[in-house]
Amino acid sequence: MAPSFGAGPRTPEVTVGPLDLAARVDEALAVQAVAFGLSAEEVGVRRHIVLRHLACPGARALGATTPDGRLVGFVYGMPNDRAHWWSTVVEPYLRHNGTDAWLDDSFVITELHVHPSHQGRGVGRELITRITDSAAEPRSILSAIDTESPARALYRALGYLDLAGQVHFPSAPRPYAVMGAHLPLRRP
Ligand SMILES: CC(C)(COP(=O)(O)OP(=O)(O)OC[C@H]1O[C@@H](n2cnc3c(N)ncnc32)[C@H](O)[C@@H]1OP(=O)(O)O)[C@@H](O)C(=O)NCCC(=O)NCCS
Repeated sequence: MAPSFGAGPRTPEVTVGPLDLAARVDEALAVQAVAFGLSAEEVGVRRHIVLRHLACPGARALGATTPDGRLVGFVYGMPNDRAHWWSTVVEPYLRHNGTDAWLDDSFVITELHVHPSHQGRGVGRELITRITDSAAEPRSILSAIDTESPARALYRALGYLDLAGQVHFPSAPRPYAVMGAHLPLRRP
C-alpha cells in the first residue's frame, strides 16, 4: 500500500528534505532543463537569477533525492516583496482583476520541477506542500504557463485559483497565469 500523504512521496526511494540550493544549483538547473526545457544559454541566465534569489530574506529550498544522493526534484520560494521584479510584472494584471492584495503576506513559489523519470509519483505535491507548510504567510502565489498542463492540474488540486491570465513576462515566449491559494494547501 502507498504511504498516506505526509509520509513522503509515493515512491519510497525518494526523500524530500532541505536543499542547499546555492551549492547544488547546477544539479537543480539540470533537472529544470530536462523537466521544463531550458537551453544551455537559459541555464546560464537562470543560474545568476537563482543565486540572487537565494540572498532574499526568507528564501528557502527543498530537494527530492534518491538514496545515492541524486537530485530528482526541487522547489524554492520566498515571501513576496512587491519590489521584486516578478511582483512588479504581475502587479498590473492582478490590480486590473482586483486581486493584487494577494501580493502581500504571500509566499511565492519561484520554481518547482521534478525530473521526468520521477514524475507522477507524488514528488511534486510533496515538495510544494512541505515548503508552504513551513511558511509564516497565510497564502501562496505563483505563476505557470497559461495552458492546461500537469503543473496547472497540480496547483488546482492543491487549491490554487487563477488570479490573472495572459500575463506577459518580458522575453518569455508564452503568456503565464498567476495563481493563489490559502495555506495550508489542500490535502488529497
Ligand atoms: C508539475 C510537476 C512539478 C508535478 O510534479 P509530479 O511529481 O509529477 O506531480 P505529482 O505526482 O506530485 O502529482 C500531484 C498531482 O498533480 C496532478 N498531476 C500531476 N501530473 C499530472 C498529469 N500528467 N496530468 C494531470 N494531472 C497531473 C494530479 O492532480 C496529481 O495528483 P494525483 O497523483 O493524486 O492524481 C512536474 O510535472 C514537472 O516538473 N513538470 C515540468 C516542469 C513544470 O512544469 N514545472 C512547473 C512550472 S510552473
